[in-house]
Amino acid sequence: MPDRLTSSSNERALRAAYRHCRRAVRRRDPVEYAVMQLTPPALRPAWWAMWAAFAAADDIADDPGTDRAERAARLHAWTTQLDGDLAGGRSDDPVRHALVDTVHRWDLDLGTLHRSFTTLAADTGGREFATWAQWSSWVRGTNHSWAVEGLRLLARAGVHIPLWLDRTESYRRYLDGLYLTDTLADLGDDLSRGELLLPADVLASFPGAEDDLRAGRYTPAVRDLVSHLTGRARHWLHQPELLGGLPPGPAVVFDAATRLFLARLDAVDAAGGKLLHQPTVPSRVTRWRLLAPARAQTALARRLLSCPVDHRTPPPPAESRGTVVVESGPVTSPPPHPGGARPPSLAPGELPRHVAVIMDGNGRWATQRGLPRSEGRREGSTAVREAFHGALELGLPYLTLYSFSTENWKRSTDEVSELFALCREELRTHRFAQYGVRARWAGSPEGLPEDLVDELLRVQHETRHQTRLTLTLCLNYGGRAELTRAARALAHRAASGQIDPARIHEADLAAQLSLPDLPDVDLLWRTGGEQRVSNFLPWHAAYAELHFTDALWPDTDRRDLWQAVTAYTHRRRRFGSAPRVPEQPRSSAPAPV
Ligand code: IPE
Ligand code: IPE
Ligand code: MG
Repeated sequence: MPDRLTSSSNERALRAAYRHCRRAVRRRDPVEYAVMQLTPPALRPAWWAMWAAFAAADDIADDPGTDRAERAARLHAWTTQLDGDLAGGRSDDPVRHALVDTVHRWDLDLGTLHRSFTTLAADTGGREFATWAQWSSWVRGTNHSWAVEGLRLLARAGVHIPLWLDRTESYRRYLDGLYLTDTLADLGDDLSRGELLLPADVLASFPGAEDDLRAGRYTPAVRDLVSHLTGRARHWLHQPELLGGLPPGPAVVFDAATRLFLARLDAVDAAGGKLLHQPTVPSRVTRWRLLAPARAQTALARRLLSCPVDHRTPPPPAESRGTVVVESGPVTSPPPHPGGARPPSLAPGELPRHVAVIMDGNGRWATQRGLPRSEGRREGSTAVREAFHGALELGLPYLTLYSFSTENWKRSTDEVSELFALCREELRTHRFAQYGVRARWAGSPEGLPEDLVDELLRVQHETRHQTRLTLTLCLNYGGRAELTRAARALAHRAASGQIDPARIHEADLAAQLSLPDLPDVDLLWRTGGEQRVSNFLPWHAAYAELHFTDALWPDTDRRDLWQAVTAYTHRRRRFGSAPRVPEQPRSSAPAPV
């Protein structure tokens, strides 16, 4: 019994240690954190621990509040304690505790990491570089050991990254590009500590820039210097040939990381004077745009290639934003229909896999009653719950709801903001996970209130492991915009040599859509009497069966969904083929879905 208590308190301490590291990365470097989160979940704690350990040692090495001797002594003490902790298998310091666990768990080589600490210790007196060559050699001394151990970690997890000897210089240049980008993005922070981590010769070629930088002045000389440096970093990072030969999962992560760092350089160029006072990160919208497809692709790659790492998973740090993550578990049945109606009994083979709904007629419902239009949408939220409860009772795997189109921005500001407020409220109060619903969002964050975007992403994250029904909310969604984004992404990949334009197939375009795994729509149902599709899921609904009903959305309930599905089971789907034998009128024969 005492053993069990000890082991559970150890486990708690370990969770807390990893949680501490995770918070450190997320707060200080959201871009690198986002890249780490693209890797298989079992590996993420190890990245957080390694990142946090490097940051902790680096902070000691350039702490402006202490003198050189003290910095050197503190760093020495820190690394000595690390060795002791490693021998004892645990530490009182959360960062070292997590690192020790990571080193043991993955059998990493602490000796390699010591090389990085030694380089840091050597320059506790201040870092100055005369030339790019000196700068590079310092960067390599401090950073490469982490890259080497990162590769070792991947190899231990069964993810083998092939390295080519004749690309050694390219790898180094790439890492220099990452570091130069970091340096530029954190220029303000370094300057506030009196540090300017750039070679003297490059500073000298922009007369006046160094003095201006140190005085916190953003002048034309500084701007030209910064744009020269972002150009150099872009050149180092842009090496599409490095993607060649990488396995699919790592290729997506590498590609996404590169794009994020390039976006960070764009943000540095655009930051103007702010660059000297605050860290520069790409906007949330840009990050989201780059990460959403990468997240879907890495998840898909993980599903396709079984990842052999799970047995090494450390106790997962609980979500640290105060929200409760409800993982898959026993799910509750949805509340029954108020009138006691039961779903039609349809065989699983008859059911459509994916039903998409245009919930139209809210405005008219309200106007007919002399109410403001937004009241119709409020009333419609009961019908939304009815629809997804009905989908659960029926056993539908995918339900997609059109909540706000990119064209709906043409409505009055009041109507739009009330609608967003209502969506936010619905997201906050819905208990998707309780019913086993994985809720996802398709659409663009552009123009949406940040807290609504946060709410959508939160719900998406919290319900990601649910499997009973996938409910996709199309909010600020436009079908043409989605296709245009996908075409742009493909054009980008073709222009950078990653794909051959002559070999672009439908699946390649589908892979660039917001939710690449969303299946084709089998049944598209629109309420409110209009017979059009209003820019809704043009790719997925190319072969959908269409079903239009007159009822206004707030007047519908789950029985209307069941009727739509029953009508669908009477359709004959041919997908371009001709019937072999003359067709008989159908009553209840299964539909060839
Ligand atoms: C659809 O209902 C919901 C949204 C577009 C947000 P409408 O608001 O279009 O309702 P009608 O068509 O004007 O009645
Ligand atoms: C489609 O309805 C959009 C949503 C239901 C969210 P609209 O009412 O905006 O469509 P149109 O403009 O009448 O085609
Ligand atoms: Mg309408």
